[in-house]
Amino acid sequence: MPLTDMTDTTKDDTMHADTHTSGRPPRLTVVGTGYLGATHAVCMATLGYQVLGVDVDAAKVEALVDGRVPFHEPGLPQALDEALASGRLDFTTDFARAADFGDIHFLCVGTPQQPGSHAADLRFVDDAAAQLAARITRPALIVGKSTVPVGTAARLRELVRTLSPAGEGLELAWNPEFLREGFAVQDTLRPDRLVFGVASAHAEQALRQVYDPLLEEGTPLIVADLPTSELVKVAANSFLATKISYINAMAEVCEAVDADVGVLARALALDERIGGRFLRPGLGFGGGCLPKDIRAFQHRAQEIGAGEAVRFLDDVDAINARRRTRTVDMVRDLAGGELLGTRVAALGAAFKPNSDDVRDSPALDVARRLQLEGADVVVYDPEAAENAHRVHPDLPLAASLSEALDGSHVTVLLTEWEEFQAAQPEALGALVSRRRVLDARHALDGDRYLEAGWEYRTLGRPVTAGVGSPRGRSEPGPGEQEQLLPTAPAPSAQAAPLRL
Ligand code: UDX
Repeated sequence: MPLTDMTDTTKDDTMHADTHTSGRPPRLTVVGTGYLGATHAVCMATLGYQVLGVDVDAAKVEALVDGRVPFHEPGLPQALDEALASGRLDFTTDFARAADFGDIHFLCVGTPQQPGSHAADLRFVDDAAAQLAARITRPALIVGKSTVPVGTAARLRELVRTLSPAGEGLELAWNPEFLREGFAVQDTLRPDRLVFGVASAHAEQALRQVYDPLLEEGTPLIVADLPTSELVKVAANSFLATKISYINAMAEVCEAVDADVGVLARALALDERIGGRFLRPGLGFGGGCLPKDIRAFQHRAQEIGAGEAVRFLDDVDAINARRRTRTVDMVRDLAGGELLGTRVAALGAAFKPNSDDVRDSPALDVARRLQLEGADVVVYDPEAAENAHRVHPDLPLAASLSEALDGSHVTVLLTEWEEFQAAQPEALGALVSRRRVLDARHALDGDRYLEAGWEYRTLGRPVTAGVGSPRGRSEPGPGEQEQLLPTAPAPSAQAAPLRL
C-alpha cells in the first residue's frame, strides 16, 4: 500500500516510529469515542501521533474537545488533558474531515447484543466503515478494533474496497483490543500482547509502524490472518468468563456440603498451571463485553456449523446467572425469609469497581430484583449512580455510604469498591438497624465484621467458617494485584467519616 506518497506536514520530533511513509508518521483517526475509542485516541496522541477522534454523538465530541471524559476511567482525564495540550489530538463528527485527515483509521465502535437475539449488532461497525470508505479517496488502512463475529473483517474488506474511490488502495486489517475498564490507559500503553490480523504485507507493515513504540518496548506480537485475529478476542473473553463461572460452579458445590470456596480457590490458585487471576468467586461477571461476547460467539459458531464446540458457553452463562439468583435468595434468608418491607442497603451498581459502567451489571440486576420482591432497596455507588438512574429511574439512590446504610436491615456488598472494603465494621454497625451483611464479592474482612457483632455471610462459604484472609478469597496470581489496587482516592480520605 503506497502510504509512502504522503507529504510531510505533521512531522513530530517526539515520534519514535520508524515510519514507512516517506519519513513522516501516519496520521490516525479513531472512530467511536467510548471506553475503547477515547482511550485509544488519547494513548495514540500520547505516543506522539496526530490523532482525530470521530463520533456521531456531538455531545461526546464537545465534551472531549473541552477536556471532559464522558465516563469514569481512572487516569484518562489527565491523559486527555496532556494530549489536548500537545496539540496532537482533536475530535470531530465530520467523517469527510476524518477521511481526508487519516492514513490509518481505527474502528472502535460498539458491537452490542441485538435485542431479542444472542447475535452481535454490527450496525455501528458497518456504518462507520461505510461512512469512511465512501469518503476515502487515497490509499489508506482501516483497522478494526471492535469485537466482532468471525468473518466480519473479510466481509468489511470487500465492502470498503467496493465503496471507496480508492478501491484496492484501501486496505482493511483487524487488531483486537483487550483493555479492561478501570485499567484502560495502562492496558493500551502496556498491553500483554498485540494481535495483527492482516490480509497483506502492506497492512502488517503499516501496523508495525504505528505500534512501533510498543513493539520497541518488547510487547509480544502475533501476526495472524483476519479470521484468527477475530477469534483471538472472543476466545480470550470466553476463556475468562469460563474461568469465573468455573469457580462459581465450585461455589455451588461448596454450598451443598458446607465447604469453603475461598479456601478451595486459594488452593487451586497456587497451582501455577491454573493461577489465581479470574478465579475470584462471587456474584459473577457482567459489563459490556464478557456476557454479550460469549453469547455472540455461540450464535456465530452455530451459523458456521461449529455450535457444538462452544455449547458449554451456555452453562458458563447459566452458572453466572444463578449467582445472581443465589445472592437474592441469601439476602432474603438474612432478612428472615421475607423481603417485603425489608430495608436493604445495596452497595454497588457498577459491574466492577473503578468503573461507572452498569451494562449487564450483576450488582444493579440484584438490586433491582430485590426491589421487585418488595424490599425497600437503597443503592449507593461511588461513580455509577447517574448511569444506574438512567437504567432504573425508580431505584432509590443514596448520595453516600452512610446514607445508604442508615436504618438498613440487611447490607449487601455487590461491587467491591475500595471505599466499602476500607470502611470500619464498627462504624457501619452504628448506622444500620440490624448488623447483617452479605458479602457477594468476597471483598470484606469477615473476621472483623464478626468481631464487630455482624452476622456475616458470603457466597460459597459455610455460615460458621472462620473467614481467614482480609479479602476472604484466593491469593492473587502473578499480576493480579494491580487489578485489586484502588485507583480511586485513598480510602482514608474517601471514607473518612466512617473510620474510627
Ligand atoms: C473484559 C476483558 O477482561 C478485557 O480483556 C476485554 O477487552 C473486555 O472485557 P472488562 O469488561 O473491563 O474486560 O472487565 P473484567 O475486568 O474482565 O471483569 C469482567 C467481570 O468479571 C466483572 O463483572 C468482574 O467483577 C467479574 N470478575 C472478574 C469476577 O467475577 N471474578 C474474577 O475473578 C474476575
